[in-house]
Amino acid sequence: MDDSDASEMILNLIKERHAIRDYITNRPVSDDLLYKIIEAGGYAPSAENQQPWRIIIVRDRAKQRRIGEIAVNRTIELFGRITPRQELERRLEYVAALPSRERTIDWLITGRRFEYIKGDPETDGAPILIALVVEATHVGNSQPTLRGTGGVYGWSSLRHSIIAGSMLMQNCWLAATALGLGACVSSVQLDHFDDVREISELLGIPHPHWVPIMFLAIGYPKHPRLRGPPRQLPEEITYVDTWGQNWQPKKKPAK
Ligand SMILES: Cc1cc2nc3c(=O)[nH]c(=O)nc-3n(C[C@H](O)[C@H](O)[C@H](O)COP(=O)(O)O)c2cc1C
Repeated sequence: MDDSDASEMILNLIKERHAIRDYITNRPVSDDLLYKIIEAGGYAPSAENQQPWRIIIVRDRAKQRRIGEIAVNRTIELFGRITPRQELERRLEYVAALPSRERTIDWLITGRRFEYIKGDPETDGAPILIALVVEATHVGNSQPTLRGTGGVYGWSSLRHSIIAGSMLMQNCWLAATALGLGACVSSVQLDHFDDVREISELLGIPHPHWVPIMFLAIGYPKHPRLRGPPRQLPEEITYVDTWGQNWQPKKKPAK
């Protein structure tokens, strides 16, 4: 394989990663695959290479069930009462450009977005659930010159940890995809402070110094998922020099 094949493969892998929400529950994921996924995660960058993260593999079914229950309840609370019109408006609000709006409307009204949600919602059913826990009170404050600036000027600690942790999760998700597994990040279980506390207690996390910020469900997908929800195009989301000044690329890659 030459270099251009390898880069094409990597770019395709990025585009082919989808949120998988339905798994073959009784097909276990071996520890060596899980090891590769977590190892890939750990290659993510972090501020000062502080690696402000821990992962908890949640295999215990009772714990998985409770976390799944919280997810379902919060999802119903957040989205269950919304009318189709409200949902359409909410989802279109952030899609600025017309062609992408059209694609998104099409995706919503044809019901294609539901084609992959055929089983239990959220994390239920995945043989493995990993929790990503990040350090909330240290990163960015470690050097004498920087010490305290996070607290004085802003929010470097938690922000750095969340940025780095997100990169770790994306690495894990891509690695899982490359290994033929399905995965899905979910964070609805951690939207509410009460849930963060309950889940921290359930998993023994020394909260609030360490905070669980998201989960990754991993397993073999029950159904192949060939397409994800539509994306806005680079020129629709990119400005040049000034907010609102759209980028007009002189050359685009051949499809
Ligand atoms: C920060 C974050 C939180 C998410 N939370 C949830 C969640 O709680 N439940 C869920 O089913 N999917 C969740 N997702 C997955 C997104 O819904 C999904 O990635 C998005 O719709 C795009 O679809 P795709 O990943 O298939 O391309 C989350 C993704 C991110 C990055």
